[in-house]
Amino acid sequence: MTREEGIQHLKSHMLVKLPSPTKKFTGQTIIVTGSNVGMGMEAARHFVRLDAAKVILAVRSLAKGEAAAKSIAASTKREGIAEVWELDLASYQSIEAFAKRAQALPRLDIIVANAGVLMYKFELAEDNETHITVNVVSHLLLTLLLLPKLRETAVATEKPSVITFTGSFTHKMTEFVERKNENIFAELNNKDTARMKERYYVSKMVQLLTVREFANELAKSTKGGKIITNVVNPGFVATDIMRHSTWAFQLWYRPLRWIMARSAEEGGRTLVHGAEGAEETHGQYLDDCKIGATSAFVISPEGDETQKRLWRELRAKLEAVHSGVLQNI
Ligand SMILES: NC(=O)c1ccc[n+]([C@@H]2O[C@H](COP(=O)([O-])OP(=O)(O)OC[C@H]3O[C@@H](n4cnc5c(N)ncnc54)[C@H](OP(=O)(O)O)[C@@H]3O)[C@@H](O)[C@H]2O)c1
Repeated sequence: MTREEGIQHLKSHMLVKLPSPTKKFTGQTIIVTGSNVGMGMEAARHFVRLDAAKVILAVRSLAKGEAAAKSIAASTKREGIAEVWELDLASYQSIEAFAKRAQALPRLDIIVANAGVLMYKFELAEDNETHITVNVVSHLLLTLLLLPKLRETAVATEKPSVITFTGSFTHKMTEFVERKNENIFAELNNKDTARMKERYYVSKMVQLLTVREFANELAKSTKGGKIITNVVNPGFVATDIMRHSTWAFQLWYRPLRWIMARSAEEGGRTLVHGAEGAEETHGQYLDDCKIGATSAFVISPEGDETQKRLWRELRAKLEAVHSGVLQNI
């Protein structure tokens, strides 16, 4: 991250007051992944408060999901709107089962692809290191499987359906050296060269680049039913995302979080802003509830070339998991 980017972030956390969302989601069905805690749960709470008809808490622990649904119902005084569905993004089988279940929904207006992991150990989940599976590949698989349902809803409601991804400013904190290899995903699977201290940042870079290319592909599609997709940077938010860090890290991280971080509710506001799906947000990186600036690399010619390579590699991966799924675009 450059000095200027650091100062910009500091200013944004100290001076910017994020607007509390007021736009209604009346009648809409919304899926929020990773919504048993943190800003996913707070975004879900906003959607219920803002009149959504059904908010699906897509979580890997049903018990934690039920506790979140109970808390949301109590605070919004709207019973039965938040529903808990099982989804483990570390398992393609779980994603397929979730998507199959969602096909029976009468409508699907929005997906908030929010769940994420931050860990320091190299562990595989399916065919990738866990950050890459959970933070990148699985969310793309899920949204591609649900694209027909989103399009069908967009046609019926005569308004775009939305897929918003929770990204991160930390994509600016990596040089992303893995890009120098012939096959980037293969290199990210190499335990011997894996730089786990930076892996979370790298996963957010790969997510941003692949979603930008996904947005380009969507814009070229001639299928009916418009889709808006964007990547939200919620900023530095007081959640438990750093739960796997060392105690030495926690020693300076916790006071910093106490001084600087936004609350999970404020973080949730940024997700709701992305989910509102304003046309101009398509393919964009959103910061402080408006269009923001990515790292210089992302918009450089090399960033563009890397984006296209990553997309080609990801397409092959997704095709291997579910043949024909790319045709949903
Ligand atoms: N906090 C920040 O400062 C910050 C900044 C930028 C971006 N973000 C991003 O914001 C998003 C939400 O994180 P948060 O800060 O709210 O942290 P959090 O409270 O730790 O929430 C993460 C959520 O992801 C879920 N999750 C993790 N692995 C999963 C899996 N395999 N399948 C399904 N769900 C899974 C977690 O479920 P369990 O409870 O079962 O683990 C939890 O619900 C993440 O994408 C994170 O990268 C956070």
